Amino acid sequence: MATAEEYGLGPNEFPRGWFIVAESSQLDAGPMAVRFWGRDLALYRGESGKAIMLDAYCGHMGTHITASTSAMIVKNGEQIEGNSIRCPYHGWRYNEFGDVDDIPYHDGPCPKSASIRAYPVVDNMGCIMAWFDPDGREPDYDAPFLKEWDDPQWINWKLDHLGVLDIHSQEILDNMADCRHLGPTHGAPSEYFENEINNEVYVQRQGGPMQLYETYLYTTTWYTGPGILLSKQVWSDTVVFELIANTPVEDGKTQCWHGCLYKGSANPTTAEDAEVALGIQAGALEAFGADFNVWANKRPALTIMQMKTDGPFRTGRKWYSQFFATPEDAATIRAEVNGTHSTVGMASPRQANHNIDEGLPI
Ligand code: FES
Ligand SMILES: [Fe+2]
Repeated sequence: MATAEEYGLGPNEFPRGWFIVAESSQLDAGPMAVRFWGRDLALYRGESGKAIMLDAYCGHMGTHITASTSAMIVKNGEQIEGNSIRCPYHGWRYNEFGDVDDIPYHDGPCPKSASIRAYPVVDNMGCIMAWFDPDGREPDYDAPFLKEWDDPQWINWKLDHLGVLDIHSQEILDNMADCRHLGPTHGAPSEYFENEINNEVYVQRQGGPMQLYETYLYTTTWYTGPGILLSKQVWSDTVVFELIANTPVEDGKTQCWHGCLYKGSANPTTAEDAEVALGIQAGALEAFGADFNVWANKRPALTIMQMKTDGPFRTGRKWYSQFFATPEDAATIRAEVNGTHSTVGMASPRQANHNIDEGLPI
């Protein structure tokens, strides 16, 4: 495990951006105690169905607002009122903005100093996504969304919960520039490869023969900010969107999720399509698992011994550093890295007739 500072990221320990913090279906089951970005957090749905995330600890005496299963107010199902939640210890009520708006045994105004931080949250593609900014700034880009999620010809993912890896997310992000691992690790060497950077979006386009399905694989993969990867993958007559999400838990520990959105054979999809979708997600997880296995066993690459014909790791790391920088420095970094970046010895997507990008939000 190595820290943001050791990778030369900073000044912040944790990146700003949209991150997955839970699967929507988990939150349907009741309030959750979660931990990300080195802090404990309270996640719940208001009666309206709205997902809400607050810092975990009540201003009164420090009780975790969503960690109790035994308090009577919780057992009685009386903790949530509208979009507000009552602390299980003395019943102080927090609204969705993190302010106390009722104390059961006190008349008059509630102390403003009891307020806790509320985070912007969206309920998006079956995922609860939260915006984190170390200084509490509002989002400066939208959480990613695929229109295919709402299309009845597409079978939606149920997430694979991959747990917490003992590596810094920098190592995961390095994959985007890593042209030369696709053959040895995934059995799908690139014949063409290119990266493109546009502010918070980092794209990889590549293709080549894939050993697993004995076919030719075309992929366009993009991060929207530091935590959420989507990848369009096309082979034979199959089209899939893959999701790989990473959220920092501590500085140097990272939680991951995975899923696949599969285009069925008919509209609406058939039972057979649903079976195929499960198989595709399992196959994609197996392929991604090859990276996971490397990450779980490697030492941190605080610096990379760059060959001229490696992918553009340095540019990718620079792009990632914007999320740890002050907003002013982030603007400078964007100006420096925006544009297309080729890998020496690789054809470009245009030379290879890569034409799978139509309709993508990039
Ligand atoms: S500790 Fe939360 S109401 Fe007392
Ligand atoms: Fe990989």
